[in-house]
Amino acid sequence: MCGIVGYIGKNEAKDYLLDGLETLEYRGYDSAGIAVLNKEKISTAKTVGRVEHLRKEEAERPVHGSVGIGHTRWATHGGVLERNTHPHHDKSKEFYVVHNGIIENYEEIKEFLSKQGYEFYSDTDTEVVPNLVHFHYQKTGNVLSAFQAAVQTLRGAYALVLLSSHDSENLYAAKLSSPLALGVGKDELFIGSDALPVAGHTQDVVFLEDGEIAVVNTEGYRIVDITTKKSIERATEVIEIDSGDGDLGDFPDFMSKEIHETPATVRSAMLGRLRADEQIVKLGGLELVEDQLQFIDRIIIIACGTSYYAGMVGEYLLEEIAGIPVEVQQASEFRYRQEPLSRSTAVLVVSQSGETADSIAALKKLEGSGILKLGIVNAPGSTLARMTDAGVYCHAGPEKAVASTKAFVAQVTVFVLIALKLAKNYPKFSEVVKALNVIPQQIEEVLKLEKDIAKIAKEYAHHNDFLYIGRRYAYPVAMEGALKIKEISYIHAEGFAGGEMKHGPLALIDESFPTFAIALSNDMDEKSFSNMQEIHARNGKIVTLVDDKNSPSAKLAQDIIVIPKTIEPLQPLLSSVATYLFAYHAAKELGRDIDKPRNLAKSVTVE
Ligand code: M6R
Repeated sequence: MCGIVGYIGKNEAKDYLLDGLETLEYRGYDSAGIAVLNKEKISTAKTVGRVEHLRKEEAERPVHGSVGIGHTRWATHGGVLERNTHPHHDKSKEFYVVHNGIIENYEEIKEFLSKQGYEFYSDTDTEVVPNLVHFHYQKTGNVLSAFQAAVQTLRGAYALVLLSSHDSENLYAAKLSSPLALGVGKDELFIGSDALPVAGHTQDVVFLEDGEIAVVNTEGYRIVDITTKKSIERATEVIEIDSGDGDLGDFPDFMSKEIHETPATVRSAMLGRLRADEQIVKLGGLELVEDQLQFIDRIIIIACGTSYYAGMVGEYLLEEIAGIPVEVQQASEFRYRQEPLSRSTAVLVVSQSGETADSIAALKKLEGSGILKLGIVNAPGSTLARMTDAGVYCHAGPEKAVASTKAFVAQVTVFVLIALKLAKNYPKFSEVVKALNVIPQQIEEVLKLEKDIAKIAKEYAHHNDFLYIGRRYAYPVAMEGALKIKEISYIHAEGFAGGEMKHGPLALIDESFPTFAIALSNDMDEKSFSNMQEIHARNGKIVTLVDDKNSPSAKLAQDIIVIPKTIEPLQPLLSSVATYLFAYHAAKELGRDIDKPRNLAKSVTVE
C-alpha cells in the first residue's frame, strides 16, 4: 500500500519525485522519502508524515541530481518512524531501494546476512533488499546481476526500484504481484507504482509483469525475465489518464468535493450509454463478449469495502432486472475458497482504484479457467481494468478522499445499466430508465439538505456507537453508511439488515446507542416500521431517512431526513449520499482528518 516513484533524465529528479509522491499519497501517508544520486553520491530527504512535510524538509536540506527514487509509506513492518521510512539503504550506502509489498522471508534473509556481518537499522522487511544486493555485488561487481540474484531470493509481493551509486546511468525495477509502470518520455523515464504520477508527463507507458526486471535509462527500458534472464520485448501503450483535478475549489476537502460531484458522476456514467428515447443501453466495453454473455447463468461479484457494498446493490439489481442469479463475495474470501465454478458463471470484479490486492489475487485465481472475467472499474489503465476480459468504466474521475463516495454512486449507476442491458423482457424497463434520468437532479435535492443533515450529525457525533439498518436495497446502504462513519469519524458503527435485529443486535440498544434507519417507501414499509418500534420500545434514539415525512417510520424517530422519492432499485443512489453527508459532518464535528483518516490508505495494494 505504498507509493513508489523513480526518475532518470536530464532534469532535477526531485521535482518529479515530490509531485509523483503527492499523487500517490492515496496509497499511504505515514512517512515519505526520496534518494537522489549526484556524482556517485546519494543524498536523501525523509520525514514522518505527509509529502508536504517532505517538501519542507527537502527545501531546508536540498538534494540535487537527475536520477532518483521516492516512496510514500503505509506501515506494515515497523512503526511510523523515520528509521523505517524508505528509501532504505545497505550498510555502506551504495544501494538504495524503495519497495511496495511484503517480503515474506525477510527474517530468514536477515539471519543469513547477519551471519555475514550485515547490520540493520530499521524494523522493515525492505532493508534486507539493498543489503542482499550489496552482498551479491561484492561477488559480481555488476549491479544488474546483483539485483537479479537478490530478487530471485525474495518471497512475497513486491514492486522494487533500486538506485546505486555504482551506476548513474540506470535505475533497476522488479515486480511480483505489485504493479509498476514505466513512462517513457523524451530523454527521460518515469517510474510509478501505477500510471497516475507518470500520466502528467507522458502517455507512453509500459507495465511490468510478474517475474520481470526492468533496466531503465534516458534512452528507454529493457525488460528481462528474473529467472531465465532472457530479454522480453514489450512496446509501450498509450494511456489516457486524467491524473485528477487537484483543485479543491471552494470545498474544504476532497470528500466534500466528491460528495458534491455525485450528480455529475451519475450523468457521466450514463453519458452515451443510455438512449432513453430508444430504450437502449449501449455498453461498448461489453460488446466484445456479447455472445458469451448469452450463455451466462450465474454471476459472482467480487470486491472489497465500499465496492463490495455496491456489489450487494448490484446483486439485487441484476437479480430483479436481469433475472440472473448473483452472489457477492469479498475478494479476500473468494481468493482462498475452494469453490467449484462452471464455465457458464461469469466473475465480475468491482473496484474504484483497480489496484486492490485481494481483488487482483481473486482474478488471478481464475487465470486459465476459461471463466469470463468482467469488471466495473473506475481507474482507466489500472491492473484490474487490464486483467478483465471486458468491462464497463465508471467514468467518475479520480477519487482522492480515502472514504469512497462518488465511486459507489457511479458503480451502482453502472450496475443499473448492466442490469438493463442484460434484461430480457423486464416489464418495468421504461420505468427504471425514466427514473434513472432524473436521479442527478434528485441527488442535487439531497445535497441541498446538507445544512439540516449537518445539524443532526453534530448532535449525534459524540456517541460512541451507531447502528445502521435497512432492508433489501437499503441493507447494503446501511452497511456502507456504517463503514463511512467508522472510517472517517472513528465512531464504532455496524450495519445490519433490519430483519436481523431480533437475532442479536437489539441487545445493544439503549438510550446511548442510536440507530440510523433507512426507511424509504417500498413494500417493506411495515417491516421497517416494526424494527423501529422495537428500537423505540428500548429507548433507542433513531435518525430516520425517509422519502415521506408523514410515514409511520418518520413518527417514531427523534430526527428525520427527508429525501426525494424514487423507485426502490434506485433508492441507494439517493440514500447513500444522505449517509455520506451525515458521516462527513459527524467527522467534521469531531475534528477528524477527513481525507486521510488514521491507519488507512486509499488503495489497499497489499493483502
Ligand atoms: O479501489 P477499490 O474499490 O477496490 O477499494 C476497495 C476498498 O478498499 C475501498 O472501497 C475502501 O473500503 C474505502 N476506503 C471505503 O470508503
